[in-house]
Amino acid sequence: DIPTFTLNTGHKMPSVGMGCWLGPGGGGDVVEEMCKTALKLGYRHIDTAYGYFNEEKVGKAIRESGVPRSEIFLTTKLPNHHHDYVAESLEESLEKLGVDYVDLYLMHWPQAYSRTDNKPIPYGQSPTFLETWKDMEKLLETGKVRAIGVSNFSVKLLELLLKEASVVPATNQVEVHPCLPSFELKQYCEDKGIVLTAYSPLGRPKEYDGKPVFLTDDDVVRIAKAHDATPGQVALSWGVQRGTVVIPKSENPERIKQNITLIKLSDEDMTALNVIHRKPGMHRSLLRYHSNSQDGTVFGWTYEQMG
Ligand code: A2P
Repeated sequence: DIPTFTLNTGHKMPSVGMGCWLGPGGGGDVVEEMCKTALKLGYRHIDTAYGYFNEEKVGKAIRESGVPRSEIFLTTKLPNHHHDYVAESLEESLEKLGVDYVDLYLMHWPQAYSRTDNKPIPYGQSPTFLETWKDMEKLLETGKVRAIGVSNFSVKLLELLLKEASVVPATNQVEVHPCLPSFELKQYCEDKGIVLTAYSPLGRPKEYDGKPVFLTDDDVVRIAKAHDATPGQVALSWGVQRGTVVIPKSENPERIKQNITLIKLSDEDMTALNVIHRKPGMHRSLLRYHSNSQDGTVFGWTYEQMG
């Protein structure tokens, strides 16, 4: 069985979930197939978003899987251009998913975009992420979300949020993997009772420079061999063993299965994996690599703002 983490709401969240980002096209029928396979192989946690353009397919897979809705931990996310449209956006997501509630509803990014012209709204202008969070807090009373959380928040932004929030986010979902272990953010979240969810826990090997990074690292390969496991399983087991939820994406049944089959790493293994990012050229962020827009921003936020 996949271990679970207990959220600050008391709800249990399976430590491995199926990540459903398949690019701007949404993935079409592949997403449906992938989610059905995952549910058949024992996954009970699916992570999607309004902005993944595949909530209908995810919902269809859940309905047709035969797995009761109540056994599945389902996450979706509020898109940037709906920060002043929170209750309505949730309704749209529930409608597309064909469900009455989601287990977790996340603010996808701290950055709001205008609903009319889809341009980033400058920091400090309404809707600020604090205003959006206040609207998300109200959703808890409707029973349509079991828990609320954030995504892509740095320590700095969480500090600002917690100063004003009535509800502490249940989770913060960020890019985390052996090349970007984010120890400080992880410790901060732990101290505040926020579960850290690692997206791109495999470093999205096909897209990143077009070649794998840590999956071919000598230490990762050595540890994998010693456990008769794959480098992917090593990276995901490291993630769960250090206390983070991991949401790897795979459309391949063999790898879907691998990714929920965790191994028990030794203290020495963990120590070796914790320092991989210190090797030359290994401390890297996929997000930053991809967001090489001319002005050096990610959805209008500078890296400094994001922390
Ligand atoms: P595929 O869908 O063909 O399995 P991330 O979740 O970090 O974004 O990574 C997703 C990418 O990693 C996908 O390209 C996926 O390809 C690949 N992948 C998924 N599971 C594994 C694994 N166990 N080992 C290596 N690559 C994997």
